[in-house]
Amino acid sequence: IAKKVIHLETVESTQTIAHQAARENSPHGTIVVADEQTMGRGRMNRSWHSSKEKGIWLSILLRPEIPPNHASQLTLVTATVLAEVLSKIENVEPLIKWPNDILLNRKKTAGILTEMQSEQDQIQYILIGIGLNVNHSIHDLNEDIQSKATSLRIETEKEWSVKDIIQKLLIAFETAYDAYMEDGFAPTKKKWENYGFKIGENIAIKTFNDKWQGKFLGISDEGALLTESKDGTPVKLYSAEIDWFT
Ligand code: BTN
Repeated sequence: IAKKVIHLETVESTQTIAHQAARENSPHGTIVVADEQTMGRGRMNRSWHSSKEKGIWLSILLRPEIPPNHASQLTLVTATVLAEVLSKIENVEPLIKWPNDILLNRKKTAGILTEMQSEQDQIQYILIGIGLNVNHSIHDLNEDIQSKATSLRIETEKEWSVKDIIQKLLIAFETAYDAYMEDGFAPTKKKWENYGFKIGENIAIKTFNDKWQGKFLGISDEGALLTESKDGTPVKLYSAEIDWFT
């Protein structure tokens, strides 16, 4: 990981640059990192605010030999790595909101966007996009997200070296990735559960066409969300979102 690093000042999205790099045969482990994104992308077609030098905006290009339907496990691997790296900081207690939001003090501080290119049931490449709010003050966050989002600086009342955190993150990612390729999802599942937000509690579940409430029972051996359907029977959801209660 990170044998090739593409560092750019301003980009629309590191994901866009990384897609391009992947198509031009950049190797497994290539990192695209930017100081600023003008059109940062989040999941579900949302935008992601990525102002200059305030946070970590990077994409990791991977070429793993795994079935395409295992790609989402890499999102959980990455979320677990982020939580572990942040948990080393004094007084910081990260939680992961399934599948991939990192919360500090119940507010979102990081997100992961996984995109995959596959052909005939074979992965060409996967991009793991990581956005981590580091040095935003509350005023740097858009008003519409101030109640839901935070940064490391807001939570610790200190500024942090973005470079330092990137380094720690990539080292931890490499270890976790190697372990995943070697031993599968089980080691991540165990760790993930230490950070899981609202496990055992009632959650609002949103799928692409439905919304209901049920108990969050945990994650399956493949990383899917285990919860209850509307009639209370157990269900396994591979693609869904835990909604905030309003
Ligand atoms: C989410 O929580 O919805 C995912 C946010 C992912 C943001 C990162 S920042 C680096 C990479 N480039 C993007 O355009 N998005 C991801």
